[in-house]
Amino acid sequence: MASTTKEVSAQPTNRIFSGVQPTGNLHLGNYLGAIRNWVTLQADYECIYCMVDLHAITLFQDPVELTASTREVTASLLASGIDPKTSIVFNQSQVHAHAELAWIFNCVARMGWLNRMTQFKEKAGKNRENASVGLYAYPNLMAADILAYKASHVPVGADQKQHLELTRDIAQAFNSAYDVDCFPMTEPLIFGEGTRVMSLRDGSKKMSKSEPSEMSRIILTDGPDEIAKKIRKAKTDPLPLTASPEELEERPEAKNLLGIFAALSNAPVAEIHQRYDGAEFSQFKKDLIELAVAELSPITTEMQRLLADTAYVDSVLRDGADKAAEIATPIVKEVQDIVGFLRP
Ligand code: TYM
Repeated sequence: MASTTKEVSAQPTNRIFSGVQPTGNLHLGNYLGAIRNWVTLQADYECIYCMVDLHAITLFQDPVELTASTREVTASLLASGIDPKTSIVFNQSQVHAHAELAWIFNCVARMGWLNRMTQFKEKAGKNRENASVGLYAYPNLMAADILAYKASHVPVGADQKQHLELTRDIAQAFNSAYDVDCFPMTEPLIFGEGTRVMSLRDGSKKMSKSEPSEMSRIILTDGPDEIAKKIRKAKTDPLPLTASPEELEERPEAKNLLGIFAALSNAPVAEIHQRYDGAEFSQFKKDLIELAVAELSPITTEMQRLLADTAYVDSVLRDGADKAAEIATPIVKEVQDIVGFLRP
């Protein structure tokens, strides 16, 4: 235990950090659970949004595809309404602070804490011995992402909640080991009706990029015909829709589609349940297709326009990395001083 309380820089109260893996295209779950909220939060917070390419390679990525996905995901963010003039948009590998702080956190976090992470268990599957060390230490890097900026808030989908709890544990353990008040207790922001969007083929599974069936997810590059096809073929059940919460608990596919409708229309889910109480899926799906196409088509079009100009997308990322480094570098230096690294 250190014996002196060191002076540390202030903890901002309205700084957002969040990240997304640049692996494949973003799907409706990413959009409704995270990106759309990121857009809204720009009005009230200083926002830092990151393509987490260091996280992406915890599972092998084809190098050419990783480069392309980094640009594509950046374009999706910009097309969705992230404004690079007011928000910082960059890719993680270009700001050294992330990897440097992650190493220090590897030495703070306990194996027992990481052993509890459900996402590692899901991603590593049965063959844990063969998982990369990076996949195991993934949450420490995530804590470094957030704490390298002393972010006060982190908007994410519900699946990231456990990782954010670990971030707080790491912050607390660091502060206490070195007897400092360096890192904040970052607050998760998990809100809206789309915090957990499920697969269109199986209402008990999260919508995800790793699901083999492309019919299980709508992606941001899908055109109107693909969106319509995926919604038309989305799994349902033979009964009409219902507003009964108890009945919907037993009917996960119906519940999921109603939730997606609520999220897309920015309405409370209970209102959508009432509106379609007793309706047939065929009518509901027609309305859902119309709604999804109206929301997503302009984003797809804008994404294509942006991707035709990779020089612009790259310039956003370069500029973002410079701005991000300006914030994170002094914080990492402060941490080095606290830990006792000589900076001659
Ligand atoms: P990733 O790339 O898996 O997902 C990006 C964001 O999308 C949300 N999300 C969902 N929300 C609702 N329903 C779904 N089916 C769904 N699938 C994904 C995720 O919750 C996330 O908000 N570890 C993170 C990336 C990350 C990060 C960070 C996030 C790295 N460092 C620091 C916040 C702060 C991840 O893999 O997200």
